[in-house]
Amino acid sequence: MLKIGLIGCGFMGAMHASCYKNIQGVELAAVADVRREKAKDLANGTNAVIYTTGKELLENAEVDVIDICLPTYLHAEHALLAMDKVDYLFIEKPVALTVAEGDALIAKAKETNTQLQIGQVIRFWDEYVALRKMVESGTYGKVVNANFRRISPVPTWGFEDWLLDASRSGGAAQDLHIHDVDYTLSLFGEPKEYFSVKNTLGEKNSYVNTLMQYDGFVVTVEGTWGLPASHPFEATFRVVFENAVIENAGGKFMRYDAEGAHEITIEKADLGVGVVGGNISDLGGYYNELCYFCEKAMKGEPIEQATLSDAVTSLKFVRKEIGFAD
Ligand SMILES: NC(=O)c1ccc[n+]([C@@H]2O[C@H](COP(=O)([O-])OP(=O)(O)OC[C@H]3O[C@@H](n4cnc5c(N)ncnc54)[C@H](O)[C@@H]3O)[C@@H](O)[C@H]2O)c1
Repeated sequence: MLKIGLIGCGFMGAMHASCYKNIQGVELAAVADVRREKAKDLANGTNAVIYTTGKELLENAEVDVIDICLPTYLHAEHALLAMDKVDYLFIEKPVALTVAEGDALIAKAKETNTQLQIGQVIRFWDEYVALRKMVESGTYGKVVNANFRRISPVPTWGFEDWLLDASRSGGAAQDLHIHDVDYTLSLFGEPKEYFSVKNTLGEKNSYVNTLMQYDGFVVTVEGTWGLPASHPFEATFRVVFENAVIENAGGKFMRYDAEGAHEITIEKADLGVGVVGGNISDLGGYYNELCYFCEKAMKGEPIEQATLSDAVTSLKFVRKEIGFAD
């Protein structure tokens, strides 16, 4: 049994616990949250030892791997300690709050030879995985234009409202828009040029629009968490190829070509009964990324997807885009 130590049992910790409970050969062995009732909820139905702080877990728990689902401003300090304890470490995205922290994590991982995976989850989301194959295989010709969009109501669930404080979360650009930036960079590499604007009405109205120029095509990325609670969370894309348009929107994955409109069917992960709510209805990518992480840890193999180095590259891009001076 692979013993998991989970630090942070809020929105994302609950999502991860739900996934671990459905992965074979894996056991939730320790959980920590300063809001103890959150940790107790996730330990329910398992033999997990409950700790109050992440540091208590890191000092005392007997675990094989650590998963950090803390608010972003707490990632680096816990991750640096975790690398002295385990060989495999998962950190939710964004990997860290600042570029300096990201660089410190890279140095520590080298020194301790720790394998890290970062929760850039859409790299593991079924539709995005399928899109990558279409781009790489050239099945529909070259890319002509691409648009990635992620729009959300104001995130009000965070511990001590940390998400709406850019000095603790990096704001909507670093927390939400980074998903599509990371995916775009992983698919097409660094753009030749880019132009990015973020409105200045404060985090509750935060909106980011980015235009990325590649050889022969343009990618636009739109992100906001400034919508009213009545608006559903949406993560969509439309990629125009020479010979087809691939669109993931409104719960449908479609191909439009000269012959007509075709719904694309892809297999979804079976998640069993989850313990999470929230505004994301499809948990498939979370399950897929944690299956990958657990399998690598069980086999003692290197992490090759959503690596620390990838995540720090994306962090650097986003921090520069929105004008943070680091
Ligand atoms: N991959 C995704 O799609 C996705 C979605 C949402 C959030 N996230 C990321 O996941 C991370 C967590 O976000 P969240 O939405 O779950 O936040 P959250 O506020 O819901 O949960 C964080 C939890 O950490 C606990 N905590 C705070 N300090 C602690 C400490 N010292 N020791 C132990 N527990 C402590 C809090 O009590 C809280 O329960 C963030 O980095 C966020 O950006 C990723």
